[in-house]
Amino acid sequence: MPEISTLGYVVFDASNLDEWEGFATRILGLQVGARSADTLRLRMDEREQRVIIERGDEDDLAALGWEFDTAAELKAYVVRLRERGVDVVEAGTELARARSVEKVYYCADPTGFRHEFFYGPAHAPLARVFHSPLLAGGGFVTGALGVGHVFAVARDKAESVRFYTEVLGLKISDYIRDPEVIPGVEVDAVFMHARTGRHHSLATGVVPSKKRINHLMIQVRSLEDVGLAYDRVREAGLPVIMDLGQHPNDRMISFYVATPSGFGLEYGWGGIVVVDADWNVRSFSKLSYWGHRFSLPAPPVAA
Ligand SMILES: [Fe+2]
Repeated sequence: MPEISTLGYVVFDASNLDEWEGFATRILGLQVGARSADTLRLRMDEREQRVIIERGDEDDLAALGWEFDTAAELKAYVVRLRERGVDVVEAGTELARARSVEKVYYCADPTGFRHEFFYGPAHAPLARVFHSPLLAGGGFVTGALGVGHVFAVARDKAESVRFYTEVLGLKISDYIRDPEVIPGVEVDAVFMHARTGRHHSLATGVVPSKKRINHLMIQVRSLEDVGLAYDRVREAGLPVIMDLGQHPNDRMISFYVATPSGFGLEYGWGGIVVVDADWNVRSFSKLSYWGHRFSLPAPPVAA
């Protein structure tokens, strides 16, 4: 089975693009690639876009963009999905242009967002090299490891995990089952990786939430940039969901802030990479090694 390389981009449906632009550029250190009345395209690296915000009223995850290295791998993958009974749509040039890629196919997730499969992402010209005045330590960890990771809220965990592993072909990294992350709230989550091995590109579990996404994680190259971002969040008075802490499975040192759409943004450093040849799947009983104290009366955010 041809494999997904990584999670190349994410698409959100959001009601307030101005607020998102300020949050992304003045707090997170992203750069605006392009902005129109209905779309905000955000850059993290040499790509034209990594995080796409489309105007809407859902304030939720719209699509995950799964990346393939070549047209042949993408085509073979789509054939296999169809053999497995998945209704895969071949998108026209309009969607490919909107995603700044050569070719896109898509299908539906059991929880209502879209999985898009693509190859050939557009790179920005050198004259528009990625630069954020906020980042002190060399930018974001992207490249072959992709945009970051997403925690998708499952309605039926078994159904979601079956779809992500048996249909999409993601591999299990590990599990966290924390019986009481805060009093009365359990976390029961599954973490999955793609071929290039970011510890997880997608995680899922049943958490109390009306949204399809719990959080997006983006990773910086230096721990100092996590501290600087944390200071900017505090100084701006933005709602911190979970304070600084470290997860036991991906070892990420991170904090969680609420985005303008209400779901979480995990800002992290130090996440590990899975090498399949010597990886053993494990299960952890605590969400965090240390820290990650909840500072909002909000649904729990898992690694
Ligand atoms: Fe996370």
